[in-house]
Amino acid sequence: VTWAAWAAGERARIEAAGRWRTIRTPDPSLACFASNDYLGLTRHPAVVAAAHAALDEWGTGSGAARLVVGSRPVHDELEAELAAWKGAEAALLFSSGYAANVGVLSALAGPGVRVLSDELNHASIIDGCRLSRAEVCVYRHGDLDHVASLLGGVGGRAVVVTDAVFSMDGDEAPVSELAEMCGVRSALLVVDEAHAVLGPRFDVDPSAAVLRVGTLSKTLGALGGFVAGPRSLVDLLVNKARSFVFSTALPPADAAAAQAALRVLRSAEGEALVARLRRNVERVAPGHPSPIVPIVLGDEQAALAASAALLEQGLLVPAIRPPTVPEGTSRLRVALSAAHTDAEIDALVAALPLVHA
Ligand SMILES: Cc1ncc(COP(=O)(O)O)c(C=O)c1O
Repeated sequence: VTWAAWAAGERARIEAAGRWRTIRTPDPSLACFASNDYLGLTRHPAVVAAAHAALDEWGTGSGAARLVVGSRPVHDELEAELAAWKGAEAALLFSSGYAANVGVLSALAGPGVRVLSDELNHASIIDGCRLSRAEVCVYRHGDLDHVASLLGGVGGRAVVVTDAVFSMDGDEAPVSELAEMCGVRSALLVVDEAHAVLGPRFDVDPSAAVLRVGTLSKTLGALGGFVAGPRSLVDLLVNKARSFVFSTALPPADAAAAQAALRVLRSAEGEALVARLRRNVERVAPGHPSPIVPIVLGDEQAALAASAALLEQGLLVPAIRPPTVPEGTSRLRVALSAAHTDAEIDALVAALPLVHA
């Protein structure tokens, strides 16, 4: 069988399951509830200006991996600022959040290590676990007793890895409790804070075995990923994380954009943006902890139809289906932003009850 015939067969199989997907180019006039630009910083004048200035000074690409070509000053500055923000000893940039998770887990876990991973963790964590060739134990979502029992029988090194905010459910992991449990059992805790713009708040001793993975691509409005944690582990990642070692460094313009975004986030203006995001979440889902609001409809076709109905009203709200979420839990995923106008939030709040019905 030729590759073309195989591809056609695969396509037919996916289409028959109603799951063939294509990339669309939505009308920019739609109100977008699909983006993770939580604070609207992709269009902040200081962020855009910083990217422009870096382009003018350094050009477009970074040319090679950092161990080969070295850093541009903005890489070092951004790492120092990310570490300070996270209260960590050190931070390291990756070319995406995906690359950060894959690099961290595959470098630090391995044969003889037990990795405990929440059942709803992001695909990049799952892939990192697989690449590590460690013993991977998937624990029930947010279940501390399950984590404790799986840690109980560990003789050697152990890693617990979790999203801080789960990307398709928008709920929070019990990160403080996990940190305490890992501290007692000398397990490494890896927390992916990609969506943790409103919380959970979580402070750790900088020398504790806790790594915080983050992305520059969502709240920070650019592209890239990072990990922050103890210097001993971060320095080891420089040497062992293959998605860092064997991948071209972040373009200076992305690093500069993220640096400017981080400075906005840590200013009074950032506080106001976070408060506005909090307010938008309250309007759509009172009491919900994050800007990711799932509306679980169950059936795949129901989720697609609801998304199409909202599109008719000028609202871009994606339908999320298996394999991204478990069977029978297809849903709309509403991603809220501080940049949404009151009119956009009004339109969403008015339209959502119709698709629920
Ligand atoms: C929880 C989580 N971790 C990591 C990533 C990957 O980050 P990036 O898009 O920067 O690769 C995502 C989303 O893309 C995510 O939702």
